[in-house]
Amino acid sequence: MNIDTFCQIIENKTGLFFNEIKKKYLEQIIKERIAKKHISQEEYLKLLTHPLFSEKEIRKLAELITIIETKFFRHPEQFEALERKIVPEILKQTKNLKIWSAGCATGEEPYSIAMVLAKLSRDLKDFSFKIYATDINSSALKKAEKGVYNRKSISNVPKEYWKYFILNREQAIVKEEIKALVEFSFLNLIKQPFPVYRFTQTDIIFCRNVFIYFRPESIKRVLQHFYLCLKKNGYLILAPTENLEDFTKNFVIVKYKNTFFYKKVPLIEKEPVITIKPSKIKKEEVLPLDKLKEAKRLADAGLYEESMYICKKILKQYPTLPEVYLLLGIVYYEKGEIKNAIKSLKKAIYLESEFALAYFYLGNIYWQLSMIPEAKKAYQNVIKIPENKAYYGILPHFMETISQKDLVRICQEYLRT
Ligand SMILES: C[S@@+](CC[C@H](N)C(=O)[O-])C[C@H]1O[C@@H](n2cnc3c(N)ncnc32)[C@H](O)[C@@H]1O
Repeated sequence: MNIDTFCQIIENKTGLFFNEIKKKYLEQIIKERIAKKHISQEEYLKLLTHPLFSEKEIRKLAELITIIETKFFRHPEQFEALERKIVPEILKQTKNLKIWSAGCATGEEPYSIAMVLAKLSRDLKDFSFKIYATDINSSALKKAEKGVYNRKSISNVPKEYWKYFILNREQAIVKEEIKALVEFSFLNLIKQPFPVYRFTQTDIIFCRNVFIYFRPESIKRVLQHFYLCLKKNGYLILAPTENLEDFTKNFVIVKYKNTFFYKKVPLIEKEPVITIKPSKIKKEEVLPLDKLKEAKRLADAGLYEESMYICKKILKQYPTLPEVYLLLGIVYYEKGEIKNAIKSLKKAIYLESEFALAYFYLGNIYWQLSMIPEAKKAYQNVIKIPENKAYYGILPHFMETISQKDLVRICQEYLRT
């Protein structure tokens, strides 16, 4: 068996990379899959490269390859920092916290976060929060959603949190009140095309013990996405053994007692240049801002059909407004309609050739599809647009944007990888 061919295909499709030890492990897994399916090696190779039918098998392989090791309150000093330093600090700025556990495995990490936050919100009373938890491993996610664990697994949980479990002799079952605080979904961190809308404006990202699966260039890219997703001054929490120094200068280290984590360094020195080109909106027209805000709110809530309905309605009145096509492109992407997402972003660019964000998102989608030359071309187009020419239109009035300076920096980094 030429295991390198398999490695290449799987790495292209998932971003997971294989050193010599992992290659051996993969070889074993592939042999088992082939035997289970009663097909030949060639047929299995065809299945993995089939444009329509490969996805399911690739997900299955990703599931088998990613070995899960996790526990409740893993690296407990970080949970103390969360409770005593990070959350109290963030609460000075906002009363609605958004937290993302990226690479959540079987759920112990996001549930531990939920327990800490539940306790805090009971004590402090005046804030709300939501925890998003994602992973590439679908069966881990299924287990996470059930919230049923072995009784022994709570040995790590501080006693004060035991009340959040229903305990019997064999099991520790997470109570519904905690489960309701966490939303699980599938997400391949490496192949995510752009700051996934759901995760923008996040206050804290946990991504612990996940980078072990990634190549350095993928780590850099994921960190860029985290950077874009985090709010100004947002926190990134990695495992204590993971160090960002070689990968990015966009975060500063924050020490707390015997642990540390990272804080986003805002790059934006000035607000994005907002240009409302007269050709796009006629003077006598009223800006459709309320409608756009509503479309964005619905998209944030995962109500994509409803969001698209509003976008399309706006387009009837403002058929040449590129911002709407950008939002529509993002919503299509979130729905998994990649072709329509590309079409929409291209339309935005057709209407506004200096719409750097549309090029950026387009580049990220191409990159996700492993269409690297197209992705690079899109990034080059971003770089070509001068800072004072980049089009933002009314975008900053209804959704978060990235300054042209930041976009250029990010695209330059992507082009180097
Ligand atoms: C060792 S576990 C860590 C779980 C938890 N964060 C912790 O520290 O206990 C690593 C997790 O990362 C997930 N993972 C690996 N590659 C991923 C990718 N490309 N996208 C999303 N999750 C990934 C694995 O499926 C696994 O659940």
